[in-house]
Amino acid sequence: MSALHLEVNGDRIEAQAPDHWTLLEVLRYRLGLTGSKQGCDKGDCGACTVLVDGKPVLACLTLAGAVQGRSITTIEGLLPAHRRAGGTGADPIQEAFDRCGALQCGFCQPGMMLSARALLNRCPQPTREQIREALSGNLCRCTGYTQIFEAVESCVAESLGAAPATRSWEAQLAERRGKQVGP
Ligand code: FES
Ligand code: FES
Repeated sequence: MSALHLEVNGDRIEAQAPDHWTLLEVLRYRLGLTGSKQGCDKGDCGACTVLVDGKPVLACLTLAGAVQGRSITTIEGLLPAHRRAGGTGADPIQEAFDRCGALQCGFCQPGMMLSARALLNRCPQPTREQIREALSGNLCRCTGYTQIFEAVESCVAESLGAAPATRSWEAQLAERRGKQVGP
């Protein structure tokens, strides 16, 4: 058991944990930050993705002791970081996932959105191919990925001043059924 000194979502935190614990275990079972999901726990699914110094990292394969003194961002920290930077609402990538209906069960979403946020921070106008590559380590068993890629593209379009397309679930269902919704 050791004392860990971590910087998580802008807060300096001290936590006691066994030396062999991963970052994911410390986040979930010591700090109560359960947004980072424990899927495969062996580096396959990406559900545990967090940002370390702005880069996506698999928390299930990272020893907590190895990231002391580095800046860790989990999904819980995305909105507060956006607000601290002067934004309103949620982080634009969160808004875009919501707007585009890019989720079903939601299990993959924290990792998926953090990978997307890291991509947009280093490459503000990615191509579809770059989006695919950046999210290739994040598996989604529900959505088929199309709406996830569209959400990232919608976020880019919005950052360039385009009005975000509204694609509510109601509108999407009606579209599939060949009906019109609304007046
Ligand atoms: S839980 Fe870490 S990659 Fe699956
Ligand atoms: S929405 Fe269910 S795994 Fe992606």
